[in-house]
Amino acid sequence: AKPNLAPTPPMGWNSWNKFACNVSEQLIRQQADAMAASGMKDAGYQYIVIDDCWQKSRDADGNIQADPERFPSGIKALADYVHSKGLKFGLYSDAGSLTCGGRPGSAGHEFQDARQYAKWGVDYLKYDWCHTGTRNAEAAYTIMAKALRESGRDIVLSICEWGTANPERWGPTTGHLWRTTGDIYDAWEGQKDWSHGMTNILDMQVERAAHAGPNGWNDPDMLEVGNGGMTTTEYESHFSLWAMLAAPLIAGNDLSRMDADTVRILTNKDVIAVDQDPLGKQGRRMLKEGDLEVWVRPLQGGEFAAVLFNRGKTPADMKLKWDRLGLATEQKADVKDLWSKKVTKGVSGSYGGKVAPHGVIMVRVTPQR
Ligand code: GLA
Repeated sequence: AKPNLAPTPPMGWNSWNKFACNVSEQLIRQQADAMAASGMKDAGYQYIVIDDCWQKSRDADGNIQADPERFPSGIKALADYVHSKGLKFGLYSDAGSLTCGGRPGSAGHEFQDARQYAKWGVDYLKYDWCHTGTRNAEAAYTIMAKALRESGRDIVLSICEWGTANPERWGPTTGHLWRTTGDIYDAWEGQKDWSHGMTNILDMQVERAAHAGPNGWNDPDMLEVGNGGMTTTEYESHFSLWAMLAAPLIAGNDLSRMDADTVRILTNKDVIAVDQDPLGKQGRRMLKEGDLEVWVRPLQGGEFAAVLFNRGKTPADMKLKWDRLGLATEQKADVKDLWSKKVTKGVSGSYGGKVAPHGVIMVRVTPQR
């Protein structure tokens, strides 16, 4: 059976959103150092994942080789370094003949590659879907899942099939997370080729909520917080909403050069606690009226997280009504605003406030007994 490696959504960093193919062993060491030193590790981030373009070729026996110019010390030494920081190490491959970046894929080499990853000390594999021709997605990911299990090492399987072959149906028995869409890019909204702005990605998550749970998560793609294409308010919204979605929190920025707002957002422990809630129920959009939305996520022990989300260009007075939580109007609850940190005790009926343009109010609601 699938090993229980993701009882809560995986947290880490991945090279793609910021660095694309510009990866090297210096970069990865630097990001591991920064994860440990910046407070990210203490906040729960754990995996350092090299995305596409670390590979170069296969040797005469078919063994996958790292690019010797970019990774002269080899992958094993790099994994050891990441482990020495108390972190875990991840790699990327593809179920086709080539990766999306044109490097060798794992098709036909699944067991050999999985054994190699285990020898190197890999803890996480992101497995992409370019150049797969007529392959059946469920079958292809099932083969890699088996190969990883038989490698003798615990390796998280991150399915990156973009939601095209209903991964929510077979993902839960095969991998630990599965992408639900094409790629995110660092913008509030928009669409270019197969990439989407943050709110466009968000809108594509609504249908699949029921399929997520402990050890198997919907993946709305990695974070863009800190990459510069959105405002601080928009990044707070992005991070809040990904936590409501029980999304894997995979930072995609340069951890070695973060401003104070980026660190404050990525390490907000109250928002992370919502993401990591052990009940593992994905939040849902309970109300949408034009630009105004109310999202609710039930938490363990009868608590709730809620987000009042204003997509509009002007401030909006918004309210979370208790009936959206299934609570009686007269039920008293303590409410914590997870960004301002303000606590209000004994609230009944509803809670609300003025929500900034493109902003959120995110709260944790604890019903009194
Ligand atoms: C695909 C994936 C991305 C990234 C790139 C790498 O587009 O969806 O997340 O891994 O490939 O080439």
